[in-house]
Amino acid sequence: MASRAHLERINEALYLALKGQDFDAIAVTAGPGLIGSLIVGKMAAQALAWSTGKPLVGVNHLEAHLFANLLENKKLEPPFLGLVVSGGHTDLVLVKDFGRYQIIGRTRDDAAGECFDKVANLLGLGYPGGPAIDRMAGKGDPKAVQFPRPFLHGSWDFSFSGLKTSVLYYLKALKGKRNIPDICASFQAAATQVLAEKTVRAAVKFSMKKISVGGGVAANSELRRRLLAEGKKNNIQVFLPSKGLCTDNAAMVAALGYHKLKYHVLPNQVLRSDPSLAIQNW
Ligand code: KG4
Ligand code: ZN
Repeated sequence: MASRAHLERINEALYLALKGQDFDAIAVTAGPGLIGSLIVGKMAAQALAWSTGKPLVGVNHLEAHLFANLLENKKLEPPFLGLVVSGGHTDLVLVKDFGRYQIIGRTRDDAAGECFDKVANLLGLGYPGGPAIDRMAGKGDPKAVQFPRPFLHGSWDFSFSGLKTSVLYYLKALKGKRNIPDICASFQAAATQVLAEKTVRAAVKFSMKKISVGGGVAANSELRRRLLAEGKKNNIQVFLPSKGLCTDNAAMVAALGYHKLKYHVLPNQVLRSDPSLAIQNW
C-alpha cells in the first residue's frame, strides 16, 4: 500500500517541489524504511539526476532526523548527543563530527513511536497514535496510574514493550469505565520520563553540552517539556525541531544531503536502497 501510494504521488510531489525552483543537487533516502517506498524515491531521484545532470547523494533517514535541527538552528555544530525517536527506531548516537557517529544505545524491542501507536490502538484512538495520545494526555492526570519506568540501569538501551504490556494488563483488569485521558497522561509520563532522563544522563556521562532530538516522537509536548527541563538542570542545551520537522519530511533529507556534499562526500548517480540501513560514518 505504501509503495503504491508513493508511486501515485511522486510525480506531483516532484512537480510541486520543483515548480519555479532552482537546485544544485538531489538528495534521496537510501534507507532504512519500506523497500517499495525506498525504490520509488530512488528511481525518481536517479531519473531526475540523469535528466538534469545534477549530482545525486543518498542519505540515511535516521541521520536526516538528527539534521532537521540544522534547518532552524545553525548553532548546532557537533559534537552533540543525538536522540532519534521515530515510529521504527529509538537510537542514542554520539555525533562526534559531521559523518562521525557512535551508537551508544537503542531500543531492545518496540521503538518509542511504535509504543505510542500500540497503546493508542489498545485505547481505540486510531493511527498514528502519538498525536492522539499527546492531545488526550493534556486533559488527564499523569499521576493517575503508576506505569513502570524501564530504565535498564547500566546500559544506554531502551525497552518499551513492558510498558505497553502493563497498559494492556491495566485495561484488562479494569472493571469500571476507563478514563482515557488519565491513562494517556500516565502512559505518556512513563515513556517520556525514561527518554528524557536517560538522554540527559548520557549527555552528562559523555560530556556533551548539546543534545539534538529528531523523529516523530520529538513532536510530543511532554517529551519536549521534560527534555528542556532536564537539560536546563544539567546545563545542557537541547535542540528540538519545530513540530513539522520532527515527523517525516523532505527538508531534513535535503539538509543532510547538503552537508554531505559540503563535506566532500562523493555523489553517486546509481544508488542502492537498503531497508535496514544503519547509521554509518561518511
Ligand atoms: O519519524 P516519523 O514521522 O516516521 C518514522 O520515521 O517512523 O515518526 C512517526 C512516529 C509515529 O509512531 C507517531 O505516532 C509518532 O511518531 N508521533 C508522536 C507524536 N507525533 C508523531 N508520538 C508522540 N507524540 C506526538 N505528538
Ligand atoms: Zn522518520
